[in-house]
Amino acid sequence: MTQAIRFSLNGTARELKVPASSRLIDVLRDELDATSSKKACGIGRCGACMVLRNGTPANACLLMMWQVEGADIVTPEGLDAVPDSVFVRQGLTEENAFQCGYCAPGFTVTLTALLRDVASPTEADIREALSGNLCRCTGYHSIIRGALRAADLKQADSRAGAPDSLA
Ligand code: FES
Ligand code: FES
Repeated sequence: MTQAIRFSLNGTARELKVPASSRLIDVLRDELDATSSKKACGIGRCGACMVLRNGTPANACLLMMWQVEGADIVTPEGLDAVPDSVFVRQGLTEENAFQCGYCAPGFTVTLTALLRDVASPTEADIREALSGNLCRCTGYHSIIRGALRAADLKQADSRAGAPDSLA
């Protein structure tokens, strides 16, 4: 049985009729052509499917569509709306953080939320935030370096924008 579900996807109001028990990750990829969120484990263990739900990182493979009603969903395609994503992408790129890249969208979503909420995250903060994101290729060192570089870039940007007396 289908149900009309209304929600915001990357700032655009959407309404579609789907089974209420269908999973957001499948609807994103199969119905809405939002394929940056990846499906890997499908059981909430790897973070490849990470999206922001009302601003908080959430596994799209664990979200039933009835849980999405009225929600604000941001996928990797919509991360430009969160200014901190610029630092995250640059930091990860500068450190060549990924190999195959399959995990990259999920890591980017999680790190963008962290940098938005924590002005100067420590390595411990980063490792804690990324505890739900798995990478099968890198051993994590390059990703952690990329996240720390993103934090440095944000700090530098803040200093550049500060009045001289505060810089
Ligand atoms: S696919 Fe959702 S957590 Fe792995
Ligand atoms: S770079 Fe391949 S899974 Fe992370």
